[in-house]
Amino acid sequence: MDTLFTIEPIKMITMKTDKGMRQFLEKIMAYANKTGISFITGNIYGGLAGFWDYGPIGVELKNKIKEAWWNKWVRNRDDIVGYDGAVITHPKVWEASGHLTSFNDPLIFCQGKCKKKHRLDHLIEESVDVREEGIIVEDQTIDELGQIVLDKEIKCPECGGNLGKPVTFNLMFSTRVGPVQDSSAISYLRPENAQLIFSGFKNVTDSTRVKMPFGIAHSGVVFRNEISPRNFLFRVREYELMEFEYFTNPEKINECPYFDEIADFQVNIYSRSEQTKNFDNDYVQMSVKKAWDKGIFKNLWQAYWLSIFAKWFSEELGIRQERIRLRQHLESELSHYALDTWDLEYQYPFGWKELMGCANRTQYDLEQHQKFSKTKMHFTEQVEGGVNRFIPYVVAEPSVGLGRILLTVITEGYTEEEVKGRKRVVLKIHPKLAPFDAAVFPLQKKEKVYEKSREVFLDLRAEGFTVDFDKSGSIGKRYRRHDEIGTPFCITIDFETLEDNQVTIRNRDTMEQIRIPISDLFEELRRNQREYQIQ
Ligand code: GAP
Repeated sequence: MDTLFTIEPIKMITMKTDKGMRQFLEKIMAYANKTGISFITGNIYGGLAGFWDYGPIGVELKNKIKEAWWNKWVRNRDDIVGYDGAVITHPKVWEASGHLTSFNDPLIFCQGKCKKKHRLDHLIEESVDVREEGIIVEDQTIDELGQIVLDKEIKCPECGGNLGKPVTFNLMFSTRVGPVQDSSAISYLRPENAQLIFSGFKNVTDSTRVKMPFGIAHSGVVFRNEISPRNFLFRVREYELMEFEYFTNPEKINECPYFDEIADFQVNIYSRSEQTKNFDNDYVQMSVKKAWDKGIFKNLWQAYWLSIFAKWFSEELGIRQERIRLRQHLESELSHYALDTWDLEYQYPFGWKELMGCANRTQYDLEQHQKFSKTKMHFTEQVEGGVNRFIPYVVAEPSVGLGRILLTVITEGYTEEEVKGRKRVVLKIHPKLAPFDAAVFPLQKKEKVYEKSREVFLDLRAEGFTVDFDKSGSIGKRYRRHDEIGTPFCITIDFETLEDNQVTIRNRDTMEQIRIPISDLFEELRRNQREYQIQ
């Protein structure tokens, strides 16, 4: 392969300083609008807070991320199967799971002019320097949060008015099923997929040959009536949740045969004790094995799943490892069903926040469904000399919002560069996630060049690549359009192609152009997907 020319060094414009963080998020939102990634829903009517539409580029990006998740954690594992439950399910499911009573957030109302409602824990975090004051918001009861409002004299951020007494607010959306609109018709839009896995557990074990330990995965839309949706796709009211429950025999909760695969991987850890002490760093880095030996993780499977996901995010989704940490929940932060939970956090432009959660849910949910439905939730396995019957134990529940991954991926990838005095916006994302694997450009308008370009384009498509065909505007403009949406390769067909069956292929990140035979194209694109390294 010949290199036609090399590019001049480029100057990075970095906005990821503390000062520029907010503006960076605003920039990302404007960028997502401009490029057709995402829009607030019903924007022609002023928009509906917390609900987002995905445009032509966003839907491709979303599908690529979803496919990467499903391929990695379901199709390519022998121990995980899929499930797809109904969005509206039997209301008893939510009674048994505890969501009807416990799926709440703290809320406070303004008693001044505006009467607006605020999510109280967020309001405190915004009004007080919690780190400086040693306040761990997650650690407070609702009454203690109310006391902080009084002690710190926190006022309504909208109108400066006094705030009332805090209350709890249930996040589930309800609806009525069927024509009779009485209370017996009330049901709920699912706030998590996990309960569909638990309530459908027997459907899976009775219809397949799954053996312990195993997981059941579920990807699909969920609904949460968040008090204050914010930060673009980070906190919304409707989103796609990808999660699985990993079940083991309760007597074998620390027998993880895959642990050695991950033992030497370095993870960034922010344990409960570091959060409660005066600890100045964001995390401590150590191998998973060392963290396990030191007793930082309580369950070996949980350590395995958290670390293997951290590895997946950094090595396969292109997210820098130094921006990923594992944070243990404080006792008071634990959900009603969890024995221990860790969040895999990412350093967003608005601070370290949960990207993925991973709870140890014990036998809680299956036991609850057994109690409420009077259906045995046991798993039976053949062992030497008889059978073993037990309620399976959920050692780990890796659970992540698709929109949060998308936001993370574009936050990581969005780059502004200066090339020969002009600004270039380029989305440097992993090629496997790019909305288009490649774009094909005919360089000249002549019929033969056009026909050859269509041939290359259709061959790539038939091979399963996602490809755009772009013949409008100057070649420079076409490159810029595709840089902006992260297309890793632009393939140009010209008169010479007709003679030598070679095309010019331009690399998005380096802008290097090389000429290769058309017969090598498929392999070149695949090689790049396999070998891509974050710059
Ligand atoms: N089944 C467990 C569960 O649902 P969660 O921590 O409430 O746990 C799981 O949510 C994941 O869903 C989070 O780690 C995050 O990625 C995503 N998520 C949660 N609330 C969200 C929201 N309001 N908007 C977008 N994503 C959200």
